Amino acid sequence: MSDVISKKSDEGVLTLTLNRPTKMNALTREMYGALATGLNEAAGDFSIRAVIITSEGDHFTAGNDIKDFMENPPTNDDSEVAKFLGSILNFPKPLLAAVKGNAVGVGTTMLLHCDVVLASPTANFSMPFTSLGLVPEAGSSYLFPALVGYQRAARIFLTGESFSATDAKEMGLVTTIATDVLEQAQLVASQIAAQPPQAVINTKALLKASKHDAVEAVMKAEFQLFSMALQSEEAMMAFMNFMSKKGK
Ligand code: COA
Repeated sequence: MSDVISKKSDEGVLTLTLNRPTKMNALTREMYGALATGLNEAAGDFSIRAVIITSEGDHFTAGNDIKDFMENPPTNDDSEVAKFLGSILNFPKPLLAAVKGNAVGVGTTMLLHCDVVLASPTANFSMPFTSLGLVPEAGSSYLFPALVGYQRAARIFLTGESFSATDAKEMGLVTTIATDVLEQAQLVASQIAAQPPQAVINTKALLKASKHDAVEAVMKAEFQLFSMALQSEEAMMAFMNFMSKKGK
């Protein structure tokens, strides 16, 4: 079974499910590639009206696979992670996320690009980039303070502390908290899929227009710093610390 499962409903809703639950759905290069391909194909397929990103198991994702970070650091624009980030930035159709359990690193930053995020009461969000010797990515150094205010964003980024589903709802990062989070996301996606598709695409384009170029520029700058940081002593020590705790 693939680590990203792609399934289309009769109503035209594509669900991309992270399927590596034994590793808390930590994202490998192949998984970023599969997500990017899924989104790009959905963008070009008229029959697909909306996409939901969700997960198998109790957690959304533990973020980038740390072993992959060490063995194959994504340092250029051709990397699978860069392709994935480009595809969520430019995805023209409604993108929903159904989040439960841990959403670490890119598991939280990707949500800043989604149009509707639903969370289970178990959801726990964190962006521990500084703790790992890294810097924020996916445009989050711009999008997160814009959403929650500078000081709150700075505190979360600089301490690496996590926040709950209730906090995320109050921040406006998620719209709904529900135990049956995927079912609720499917309901919203079906409502969207029933709308006139071109009006939906145009509406999303208008909603995103004012920030798109700024986010793209920030993502480029973040990527450069992130690539350098990945090869720093601070990051190497943090990664080795994680790997040794896990007895790898
Ligand atoms: N990369 C690779 N493997 C990971 C992973 C990651 N980011 N996160 C979790 N895993 C693996 C663990 O190695 C473990 O596998 P194992 O049973 O074969 O050893 C499994 O997933 C379960 O994780 P575990 O750490 O045992 O769960 P926990 O409940 O004790 O801790 C976390 C949960 C999220 C706090 C912890 O896994 C963690 O800190 N992960 C790293 C998160 C991170 O820094 N991501 C990068 C962000 S940029």
